[in-house]
Amino acid sequence: MTKKYYIKTFGCQMNVYDSSRIADMLKKEGYTETNRQTEADIVLFNTCHIREKAAEKLFSDLGRAKLIADERAEQGHKTIIGVVGCVVQAEDEQIIARAPYVDFAVGPQMYFRIPEILRQISAQKEHQSVVDTDFPAISKFDFLPENKAQGACSYLAVQEGCNNFCTYCVVPYTRGAEYSRPVADVVAEAKRLIATGTIEINLLGQNVNSYHGEDENGHERNLAYLLHKIAELDGLKRLRYTTSYPADMTDDLIVCHKDIDILMPYLHLPVQSGSDKILKAMNRRHNSGDYLRIVEKLAAANPNLRMSSDFIVGFPGETDADFQQTLNVVNQVKYIQAFSFKYSRRPGTPAAVMENQVEEKVKKERLDILQTLLFDYQTKFNQACVGKVMPVLFEQKGRHKGQLIGRTPYMQNLHIETNGANINKILNVLVTDATTNSLSGKEI
Ligand code: 5AD
Ligand code: SF4
Repeated sequence: MTKKYYIKTFGCQMNVYDSSRIADMLKKEGYTETNRQTEADIVLFNTCHIREKAAEKLFSDLGRAKLIADERAEQGHKTIIGVVGCVVQAEDEQIIARAPYVDFAVGPQMYFRIPEILRQISAQKEHQSVVDTDFPAISKFDFLPENKAQGACSYLAVQEGCNNFCTYCVVPYTRGAEYSRPVADVVAEAKRLIATGTIEINLLGQNVNSYHGEDENGHERNLAYLLHKIAELDGLKRLRYTTSYPADMTDDLIVCHKDIDILMPYLHLPVQSGSDKILKAMNRRHNSGDYLRIVEKLAAANPNLRMSSDFIVGFPGETDADFQQTLNVVNQVKYIQAFSFKYSRRPGTPAAVMENQVEEKVKKERLDILQTLLFDYQTKFNQACVGKVMPVLFEQKGRHKGQLIGRTPYMQNLHIETNGANINKILNVLVTDATTNSLSGKEI
C-alpha cells in the first residue's frame, strides 16, 4: 500500500506555495496525498507566526494529531508528525519542549531536507525529534524538484524574505533577508507551469516588487523587467504579482499596468495605516501622501485598476485621530477588498516593547468600524458589477452539482451553473447577482 501524507497549511500564499513544493517532494518519494488525517502516515503542519492567533492554532492541532497517531499506533500504523514554516523558525526547540511527540520541525528555508529527515527518522530505534532552523548558504529553490501546475492558476515564488523591518512584523526574522531568484529560473518554472496547464500566474514574494534577480549576463533586473519577460510566454492568459511594498512601486512597474495587457487590473498594496505618525512608528518608508500619489499614478496608467490592502488597527500610540486618518485613506482609495487586523504583539519585534500599547477593547471597536467601512466599499463594487460581462477563469467545482467557481480579473469569486466541461477555461459571464463575498452569473 502506498504511504499517504496530509498537509494543513496556515497563513499566507507563500506558505501555500511552500506546501505545494513539499507535496512535490513527497510525491517524488512515492507518497500520495490524502485529506483525511486518520489515514495519513505523515501529518504536516505548515505554520504561520504573523499574529498570535495563527501561532496558537498550531498547538491545538498538534494535540489532535497526537491523539490520532496514538489510535493508529494501536492498529499497528506509524504516524510521523512534522511541523514546518514560520512558527518553527521563531520558536525553534520550544516546539519540541511543548509537543515532544513531534518527529521533526524545520524552518521555511530548510524544508528541502524533508526526504532526508524522513529516512533519518525511519532509521531511528527510539523517538528523537529532528529540528533544523538554519538558513542555507545556497537558495532552497536549487534543491527542490521541478514542479508542475496544480491547476489553471499557479503561484510562482520569485522573491522571499524581507529587509524592511516594519516594527510589528516577524517576517524579516522568520523568512530571513531578501532573496530574488534568477530571471532564468523564474522563466523556466513559468514555462513548466504553462506546459502543464496553467493559464494564470501570480508572481509571489513577501516584498515582490523589490525583486532584483540576475539575468543570464549577471545584470540585476527588476520586477517590471520580469513581468515583461513572463508576459511574452506563449499560452499565458493572465498575470498578477503580490505582495507589494508601496515605497518600491517604481514608475516602470506602474507603467506595466498600461503596457502589459495580460496583467490583471487589481493590485494588493498594503497601506497598514493612514496616519503619518503611526506609519513612521511602524518604520514604513511611505507616508499617506506618498501612498495616495502612487494610487493616482496607477489610476492614470490603467483607469480600470482597483486596489486592495492590509490594515493594522491599534498599533502602539494610535489615537482616535490617527485611526480617523486610516478611514480617510479608505474613503479616498475605495478598496474593493482588504484584510484588516488588530495589532498583535509579536515577541522579538520592536513594537512589542513600545509603551502606550492600545487596549484590546479599543482595538476591537476600531476593527469593527474599519471592517464595516471596507465591507461597504467591497459590496458596492460587487453590486456595480451586476449587469456587466466579465471574463472569468473557472478553477474548481462548486458545492452543488453542475456549479463551477471562478475568479474575475478583480479576484472576486463567481459561481455559475454549467455542465462542468468548462473547468480551467476563461469564459465570458454576465454577472447577475452580488453579495459582499461573491458574484454569480450566466455564461453568454
Ligand atoms: N499584528 C497585526 N497584523 C500584522 N500583520 C503583520 N504583522 C502583524 C502584527 N504583529 C499584518 C500586516 C501584513 C499582513 C500580512 O499581516 O497587515 O500586511
Ligand atoms: Fe513584514 Fe513589513 Fe516586510 Fe511586509 S514589508 S513582510 S509587513 S516587514
